[in-house]
Amino acid sequence: MSHRHIGILTSGGDAPGMNAAIRTATLVALSQGCTVSGIERGYRGLIDGQFRALQPGDVAGIIRDGGTILGSARAPEFAQPEVRVAARRQLHEAGITGLVIIGGNGSLTGALALANADEAQPGAPAPTITGIPASIDNDMGCTQLSIGVDTAMNTIVEACDKLADTASAHHRAFIVEVMGRACGYLAMTSAVATGANAVFFREFEQSEDEVVDTLEKAVVRASQRTDRPKRALAIKAEGVSVPTDRLKARLDERLKARDDESSAMETRYSILGHVVRGGRPSAFDRLLASRMGHVAARSLIDGGNCVMTGWMSEGIPPEAGGRSPYDPHVWQIDLATALKETERLLSGESDHVKWRVKIFRELEDVLAL
Ligand code: F6P
Repeated sequence: MSHRHIGILTSGGDAPGMNAAIRTATLVALSQGCTVSGIERGYRGLIDGQFRALQPGDVAGIIRDGGTILGSARAPEFAQPEVRVAARRQLHEAGITGLVIIGGNGSLTGALALANADEAQPGAPAPTITGIPASIDNDMGCTQLSIGVDTAMNTIVEACDKLADTASAHHRAFIVEVMGRACGYLAMTSAVATGANAVFFREFEQSEDEVVDTLEKAVVRASQRTDRPKRALAIKAEGVSVPTDRLKARLDERLKARDDESSAMETRYSILGHVVRGGRPSAFDRLLASRMGHVAARSLIDGGNCVMTGWMSEGIPPEAGGRSPYDPHVWQIDLATALKETERLLSGESDHVKWRVKIFRELEDVLAL
């Protein structure tokens, strides 16, 4: 199907770099003679018909900005088929036949449902869609990276470097909680990049007592150092069920009960929260988003449907997709396959997650040194 009018929407948690993807997808589609509309506030705006034309001037300079110029929302009502029918009707009335949907797991699940031709009704045909993975959590399967991950990681590293300064000055142990919902990727990678002494993430499946034991061991080691400041940094993913304040309280109890230098170690915690999701996109995120935006628009215009762009997706089954003819590092992947792989990633079944757990178990003692 060749499109004359393409819509673009961003949905779910915003991610730095979404604007770069909007910009490139818009410019590429315009260059191919399409009309482009931005859909405001994700699926909410789609249901309500909040569309606005996008011209080069509308996307000029946005490559530098965090968040998304189109706005975003979580729209759980989109899981209802009748709501999707209303959304398709809005698209049909506006003459939009193809959509670029930029978002994470929930948003791309919604995209696949929207494109389901079996649900099409007179006056509400299913659009064709291309998804671009964007979520700081890096919880999408079949792509090495999603848009926003690199910036989030840089934000965490900068925050942890600052916390390390004050920790060194006061001989304190800090527990830093980072976002990532059910995926520990940000915690794992930032632990390596900050030289943290311990890391905790949901996929580890440690009991609360095991987490406290590991934390205590890391802080005791730090307190025994004579060659550098006695400080410790532990990174905890938000997906770990034990609340961070309780972890600190339990660590305090353990340290108080000890009869060595660790009983003098003070502890603090810091929950970075939504700070991690904001800010100017890194150079890498701008590039990743631009390259994915380019391939997404081209794939849609070429007649692709239910495709997700992937970054360096080597290793996926050949029937799931292949390299884009437009970019050797961006892949065009069957969206349903990518969503299935996402489920395996989140349930811990994927080989990739098993490897991550194994390597971090082996590294536990190395981190604490
Ligand atoms: O999915 C991105 C994310 O930032 C997660 O890391 C976090 O758990 C969640 O969104 C927070 O969602 P909200 O912004 O709706 O509070």
